[in-house]
Formats: sequence, structure tokens, C-alpha cells
Amino acid sequence: MSNHNYEDAIAAVNYIHKFSAAQPKTAIVAGSGLGDIANIIESPKIIDVHDVPKWPASTAPGHSGKIILGRISGRPVILLQGRVHYYEGYSMQEVVFPVRILGMLGVSEYIATNAAGAINTSFLPGEIIAVKDHINLMGANPLRGPNDSRWNTRFPDMSRAYNPKIYEPLGLKTGVYAAFMGPSFETPAEVRMAGLLGADLAGMSTVPEIITANAMGLRCACLSCVANMAAGIDPDHTLTAQEVFDKMEESSGKLAGLLVKLIDNLNQE
Ligand code: HPA
Repeated sequence: MSNHNYEDAIAAVNYIHKFSAAQPKTAIVAGSGLGDIANIIESPKIIDVHDVPKWPASTAPGHSGKIILGRISGRPVILLQGRVHYYEGYSMQEVVFPVRILGMLGVSEYIATNAAGAINTSFLPGEIIAVKDHINLMGANPLRGPNDSRWNTRFPDMSRAYNPKIYEPLGLKTGVYAAFMGPSFETPAEVRMAGLLGADLAGMSTVPEIITANAMGLRCACLSCVANMAAGIDPDHTLTAQEVFDKMEESSGKLAGLLVKLIDNLNQE
């Protein structure tokens, strides 16, 4: 397996540079079923991830594998439609390779979106929650291994992993996201455990990206769409990937509106 090192990232950056001279300021990553976010990009230039050297292409349903360069409210942005997950079998180096490239392209903000199960019973499916912190229960960290100081320091601070200022104007509920490795959904006992630890949401992505983006000095935010109540909260309910996907598609428009507001706010800074 290739190691997705700094030199590999330079090759990918050079490829992406051919498509647009404008340096993107903000990166947005669209999670499962949230591909419609692409509709808010003005004058889009579309790159197929399969053409980008070493770019890991997702096998997950609802992840189209496109990189879109363009603008939102005039701000140069780069949108990744789809991400790769640790549960797909990718190494952590592969999972965060796109984040490293975004950092090298010079973005200042990394805005993740994802699907999550609600552990907090005051949340409802269809709601969008601003993630204020996370608990990494994946049993892996993307920065493990030899450190390349061109990317980050050995021991990056995670005290302010999510930037509250980015969310402020959206007026959303906030929550702590617990990342599980997946791909099985959690057991009810795991959900209860995560709740006791202080988690409001359960998911299978994003945390490795946020660790890497913080380590590169990017300001981070994550908007989680509640797709379902986490396992066991409704004891009669059986979770399916289809219900998650359907809820995400339903929430896609609302999330796109929030992203425009978020970008408008960044433009005021
Ligand atoms: N658990 C983990 N990941 C998820 C869930 C869930 O309940 N819903 C959507 N993604």
C-alpha cells in the first residue's frame, strides 16, 4: 500500500492547481447523501477524484467522488463531494490525505458535514447540530507514525478543535460527536456508554479529518445532520443505511442554506 506522504500530496496539489488559479479560502466536505450541497457553488469547476494522483476514492454509497472548485457568495471555496472512511479499509494516512491537500492548497477553514445518530434525546432526526467537541473512540489517530514537520508538529493542541465563531450566526444546537470505527452501528450499551462520557452524537467519520486539519492550523467546524436516534433509544427500531441516506438527502437543502450563511459570515470577518 502506498504511504500517501508529502511528495504524493505535492503531486495531487499540482494536479488540482491546473483547474483554477484562484486559491480556495474555505474547504467544505459533504458527507453521505449531502452531495446536493454542490448546487450552491457558483461557476463550478469539477475534478473527478479518480484523476487526482493517489487520491483515495470512496466506495461508500452516496459519495460521488468529485472535487468542486468555485465560489459561494463570492468566496473561493473547494468542495469535496464524498470522503473515505476508516471502515472502508483505508489506512488513516489515506483517510486524511484529502485534508492534507486542502491544507497545502492554502485553505484557512475546514468545514465538515456528516450524518450522525442522536444520543441526546432532545435532538430529532432532520436537525442539524453544530459540533463543539469530539471523543475519538475509533482506536486510531491519523498522526500516528513518523512525523513530517512540513505538515504538523508532533503533539498538536486539540483544546479548541472546533471554532465556535464559525457557527455563531447559525443559532444551532451544539453537541459532542463520538466517533466509532464502524461499519456496524453501535450497540445500545455503546450508545449509553458514549452518552455517559458526554457525547450527544454518534458517527463513523470526520474526527480523523478534524485532528489533521487542526494539526495543520486550519480553523475547523462540523455540521452534523441527525439521521436517526442512536441504537437502543427507540428499542423497537432497527437501523438501516437506507434510512440514514434518505434523511441526509432530505436535509441536504437545509444544510446548503446553513453553509451559505456560514460563508457569508466568514466574508464579514
Ligand atoms: N451511528 C453511527 N454513525 C451514524 C449513525 C449512527 O447511529 N447514523 C448515521 N451515521
